[in-house]
Amino acid sequence: MTMRNRFVTVEGVEGAGKTSAVAAIVEWIKTTHGAQVVSTREPGGTALGEDLRSILLNHRAEGMSSDAELLLMFAARAEHLQRVIKPALVAGHWVVCDRFTDASFAYQGGGRGLDLQRIDALAQWTHPDLAPGLTLWLDVPVAIGLARAAGRSAPDRFESEKQTFFDAVRNTYAQRQAAEPARIKRIDAEVSITEVQSQITQVLTEAY
Ligand SMILES: Nc1ncnc2c1ncn2[C@@H]1O[C@H](COP(=O)(O)OP(=O)(O)OP(=O)(O)O)[C@@H](O)[C@H]1O
Ligand SMILES: [Mg+2]
Repeated sequence: MTMRNRFVTVEGVEGAGKTSAVAAIVEWIKTTHGAQVVSTREPGGTALGEDLRSILLNHRAEGMSSDAELLLMFAARAEHLQRVIKPALVAGHWVVCDRFTDASFAYQGGGRGLDLQRIDALAQWTHPDLAPGLTLWLDVPVAIGLARAAGRSAPDRFESEKQTFFDAVRNTYAQRQAAEPARIKRIDAEVSITEVQSQITQVLTEAY
């Protein structure tokens, strides 16, 4: 299987282990392919994107409409694609990204209940010709993920959501994985970090 592009994304609810997984993926690419790797995240990855990230994560007294949240996510993504992701891929580098468009379907679609067709329209607008070559979905029961993420810092605007919100997020990831099993690989993220990493290595080896 050498037809996949070198754009790898990592998805999952809070505390699933995405940040730890990105580090393991970068290490695997460097040791097995000796290639340059850009490690990045969403929302964020550019100066403007990181500004938008703080707007998206910080609590505001007046809250934020779901449409504004969705559009800001895609504004950050457009910038990220233009300035970071596409140039790196064109240069032949790998890109490993902590969350991408699947997260918009999961959080703004599943979690907030926005129409999935609208999200798809934004995805088509923002990256009509590019999808991740491989997406690792770190699947963990919501309560376990939230417990892992707890106590790191004051909960952000998403982390403050209720269990039902994250259950909808997880269900949407599951639906997307079922619809696109060749691209989205489920990783059992409930097990130890070592066992998660060995699953990740196995999936990467099969994919690339
Ligand atoms: N498989 C695992 N078992 C136990 N603890 C884990 C596992 N994976 C990660 N952790 C720990 O759980 C915490 C959250 O992990 P990590 O930051 O990688 O998750 P994340 O998905 O990036 O979270 P967030 O969505 O908040 O960015 C960290 O303290 C990490 O060391
Ligand atoms: Mg993280």
